[in-house]
Amino acid sequence: MRIAVISDIHANLEAFEQVLIDIGKSDIDTTVCLGDNIGYGPDPEPVVSLIRDRDIPSVMGNHELAVIDQKFLTWFNPLARRSLLKTIDMLSEETIRFIYGLKPFMIYDEYRFVHGFPPDSATTYLFQVAEDELLHTFNQMKERICFLGHTHRLEIIGFNGRSITRSRLTQNVINLTVPTVTSLTPGVSDSQETVIITPNMLSWIQGKTASKSNSYRMILLRL
Ligand SMILES: [Fe+2]
Repeated sequence: MRIAVISDIHANLEAFEQVLIDIGKSDIDTTVCLGDNIGYGPDPEPVVSLIRDRDIPSVMGNHELAVIDQKFLTWFNPLARRSLLKTIDMLSEETIRFIYGLKPFMIYDEYRFVHGFPPDSATTYLFQVAEDELLHTFNQMKERICFLGHTHRLEIIGFNGRSITRSRLTQNVINLTVPTVTSLTPGVSDSQETVIITPNMLSWIQGKTASKSNSYRMILLRL
């Protein structure tokens, strides 16, 4: 099965439509979205409508969280807060109801999907998490692979049962089943590493609307 993981669309309809066209050409079975579909960009209502019309399962991002609970607005810097207030004005009641229904995480086909950090945080950034907390998280994770967004960076963090490795997602094809050698923690297969992946397919760059397909990278992960 081929799953397209997209994230942090941030109301960028033009880029989102182009990504959907590319997904349509890529023999993809299903698409999953990691949240922050709104905020910053100019088209929150059409973006969420498209997600709804295409039946794309999405988790809740911190920007969606601020729509359903305005206490979270204080979490944002002044510019992001202004953009969110404008966003809220642009949303239909139907879209707000849809946002209320989003879940903080999803398990799909044995993988975990969350906006910020596992198990279910929409607000924690991966780069905020200390090494010992990462180790603890990996040890607690029941799923072998977790996808997360929020950071707007492409990165893979792997755990082989003893230590953590970090690498940027720069290649077009990445094989995640390379066997590891030497002894591993009991229960961790030597052909399976646990990874946290930040896809950030649609980047929002310095306030400019990302323009079509040159603004994102499509990477194939062989799981
Ligand atoms: Fe976010």
